[in-house]
Amino acid sequence: MWTTEQLLAEAVGGRVGERFRGLDEVDALSRDELVTAAGQVLRRPQAAEFSPGARPLSRRLLAAQWTVLLEHLRLPEEPVVLELCVGSSDPVVVAVDTLFGRRGHYHTLNLNRQLAAELMERCSTLALQVSLIEDDAQNLPQYFDDGTFDCACFHHAVNDILQTAVATARGMDTRDIDWWPTERRMIEWLAEEWERHRLQEVGLPQLRRILEVAARAVKPGGFLCFDHWTFEHYLAMDWFPGELFSQLIPLAREVALSLSVPLVEITPAGLDRQWWMVLRKE
Ligand SMILES: C[S@@+](CC[C@H](N)C(=O)[O-])C[C@H]1O[C@@H](n2cnc3c(N)ncnc32)[C@H](O)[C@@H]1O
Repeated sequence: MWTTEQLLAEAVGGRVGERFRGLDEVDALSRDELVTAAGQVLRRPQAAEFSPGARPLSRRLLAAQWTVLLEHLRLPEEPVVLELCVGSSDPVVVAVDTLFGRRGHYHTLNLNRQLAAELMERCSTLALQVSLIEDDAQNLPQYFDDGTFDCACFHHAVNDILQTAVATARGMDTRDIDWWPTERRMIEWLAEEWERHRLQEVGLPQLRRILEVAARAVKPGGFLCFDHWTFEHYLAMDWFPGELFSQLIPLAREVALSLSVPLVEITPAGLDRQWWMVLRKE
């Protein structure tokens, strides 16, 4: 699907790189630093970010991956794209803006208010038409008819859906929390539910509902795209459910392919199906 060279060319100096010029320190990195950092951030599980510039380069490379993927899918000239559980992460936003600019329509439903505000701030300089609804993704049908979207994207979102469902069941209102200092607690709760085999009761029903409403909201012939990754050094931490976090795309695959909406897997050759999944609605 892509080589490290191709992604680096896109992320530094290329179409994606354009969007980050002056916003981070990546353009000052040497060729060797870029190649080392790219090797770290593209590994799955992802290696620790030891190189200078790996963190901002990671943001650019994720956007480059989504750009190449969405280009490969040949969306219509004025696509309507949905992303769920975006937080303040912008690879899909940047990809749609890179490919379509003001011809693109991007919609998201997102619960956490602070991250939503950060995302809108990041989007403020883009040409892309962005709309954000602060609500639970399970309520998607209240806002959009079936067959509205050309593509629904889930960037590193399966864990977010599970974490939020488990935390909500424990009485946490995830709209107003400061996400990052709270996230470890949410993951610990998720680990507990998973170890006790209770995700069938809380977590999986919400994931199923969200995949179902998203699949309905996509046009026939449209796509649902998923990615995930996890940090290698997290896998050794006793509080982190590494086995679950390494299997989230296979878990989402099992759920998605058992929905009543007919979906066919078309993940492009060269993408690792443990970390990527692309489905087409029949
Ligand atoms: C930490 S952000 C992660 C963003 C992105 N998925 C990533 O991993 O880079 C998680 C976001 O998902 C949102 N989220 C989780 N479950 C949700 C749901 N059921 N409906 C809407 N938003 C949800 C949270 O509110 C939060 O803003």
